[in-house]
Amino acid sequence: MSERRPIIAGNWKMHKDHLEAIQLVQKLAYHLEEHDYEGQDIVVCPSFVALRAIQNLIQADKLPIELGAQTVHAEDEGAFTGEVSARMLARLDVRYVIVGHSERRALFGESDEVVNGKLRAVHKHGMVPILCVGETLEQRDAGQAVEIVAEQLRGSLAGVKLAEAQDLVVAYEPVWAIGTGRTASSADAQELCAAVRGVLAELFGQAIADGIRVQYGGSVKPGNVRELMSQPDIDGALVGGASLSSEDFALIVGHRRR
Ligand code: 13P
Repeated sequence: MSERRPIIAGNWKMHKDHLEAIQLVQKLAYHLEEHDYEGQDIVVCPSFVALRAIQNLIQADKLPIELGAQTVHAEDEGAFTGEVSARMLARLDVRYVIVGHSERRALFGESDEVVNGKLRAVHKHGMVPILCVGETLEQRDAGQAVEIVAEQLRGSLAGVKLAEAQDLVVAYEPVWAIGTGRTASSADAQELCAAVRGVLAELFGQAIADGIRVQYGGSVKPGNVRELMSQPDIDGALVGGASLSSEDFALIVGHRRR
């Protein structure tokens, strides 16, 4: 198995205006100094309106943090009122773009086909998609978790070339664990993250699948991150609520030394 660099990303969702975002990143930079964060990728995904301010902050202070966006439009430009393109994000030094988050799928009707268009736009502009997949509670209770996640992966990754697949992060986020305080057990999370890797191997071959980073997301906190990250197929975390606290997010990043 190839060595995969851990990636901890904070998805701020629709929280923090640009001034609050600046303050959060400054505090995060301060708290990160108390922890061992070397050898990991640390990503924050603020709202679109804060991207420019955070880009400036990261560059000016040479912070060990990379910039991510929460969604994107598939087209480079056009009459799509209110949308933001991958080309625009790349110009802001955005490195990661979340696509297919379950909130986008459920609240904004994004199908696998739509997610696929976004993911390909992110690749086209040299950024790394964080592709979210995950089952609902009904689907889990019906024993369909693996099947649903496999279907989301196949649909969202249709037409992705082998060379592009290397630049991909997948986040397994069971919908029932998001914002609920209910985390998947580390065994369940490992089982599904291993299943994700199995589908990636079918699509791209084992060697590439072994290099793709798979995150777990859903109520990740300082107290549970270590056990989750110790699972063989979990290479990182996509953190919602706890990423809004600089102390907690720094503790999550620094989980190895506690
Ligand atoms: P919570 O960590 O708040 O459960 O959110 C998870 C999530 O949706 C990250 O994308």
